[in-house]
Amino acid sequence: MPGGVDEVLVSVRPRVVPRRRRSRRLSRPSLVLIGLIVAGVTGCAIPVVAGNAARPADRTTAVPASAAAPTPSPTVRPTARRSVASRPAATPEPVATATPKPAPRRTSRPTVVVPAPVATPRPLPTPTPIPTAPPPVLGGPLPACRAGALPVLSDVVTPHHAYADWALSLLDTRYMLPASYAPPDLEPVSAAAVAGSGQLRALVMPDLKEMAAAAKAASAPIQVFSAYRSYAYQVSAFDGWVAVDGWVAALNSSARPGHSEHQLGTAIDVGSLGGAPPWNVRDWAATTKAGAWMAANAWRYGWVMSYPAGRTDVTCYAYEPWHYRYVGRAAAAELHAAGETLRQWLWPQQ
Ligand code: DAL
Ligand code: ZN
Repeated sequence: MPGGVDEVLVSVRPRVVPRRRRSRRLSRPSLVLIGLIVAGVTGCAIPVVAGNAARPADRTTAVPASAAAPTPSPTVRPTARRSVASRPAATPEPVATATPKPAPRRTSRPTVVVPAPVATPRPLPTPTPIPTAPPPVLGGPLPACRAGALPVLSDVVTPHHAYADWALSLLDTRYMLPASYAPPDLEPVSAAAVAGSGQLRALVMPDLKEMAAAAKAASAPIQVFSAYRSYAYQVSAFDGWVAVDGWVAALNSSARPGHSEHQLGTAIDVGSLGGAPPWNVRDWAATTKAGAWMAANAWRYGWVMSYPAGRTDVTCYAYEPWHYRYVGRAAAAELHAAGETLRQWLWPQQ
């Protein structure tokens, strides 16, 4: 399987064990068995994704060490409307612009592999089936999210990327934060007396606290399922979804590294207290009390649903009834009154 565990092992073999000793110890079937065991242990599903070398799909073990601080919630998952467990095994996705890779040559396979190096991360190849777009013209009309069936992508550092500009930072499939952007004032969400885990910027805490208390008083208690995500964590999250769904499908519901509002430290994925993760609930806003309460009232506390239903053409992402970003009460009230999405509202202010 191209780029799979087996191949990783092969690529490092000569530096580890002399050939003669290895070939006496293990036969080829043993090699395959070790590879499969290692894949199981490390959670490497190794599906083949069109145009990309396959890679570990595990979104926990694949997180580089640098993503560990601040620690994401153990319940954090890449945002999607289906659970990973319920997803079918990934199948090659017909992406027209993907360049097929030649099958790896098997003629010189070694007879023995050494499992240890499998834990060594190696750079992930960047899948590039979608041409990137030139930066849009500031001051012009809101840039289109898609060109035909494909999303339009570019990697432009968003104009408002200072920590003080948190309310104006436009993040979409084109605009991003620098990889080094990590707010200096992160606090655990418990500082807002709300259930769940993760960290958020200190400035959101007072309004988060009031919102959570109001939701509880309305018998619609909430909990935070995902909060701040580092750039490195988003690398892992996005790559996980690419491995499961394919590059193009992943772009509909998962932001590429640097493009996620979660990196601002002012966005949350919120669900019902004690309930299933909201992405595992069919239309959380329409079918649960907490979801409906948040949809109707979050703006009063400065929080807006970034990706509302039926607005994918202007938000660039699929409907996410659980994803809220803090913009402050005045801005949220303006947005609510205007009936605009956050991206529409932010664009003229760039
Ligand atoms: N699900 C949203 C787009 C994110 O990944 O930040
Ligand atoms: Zn989110």
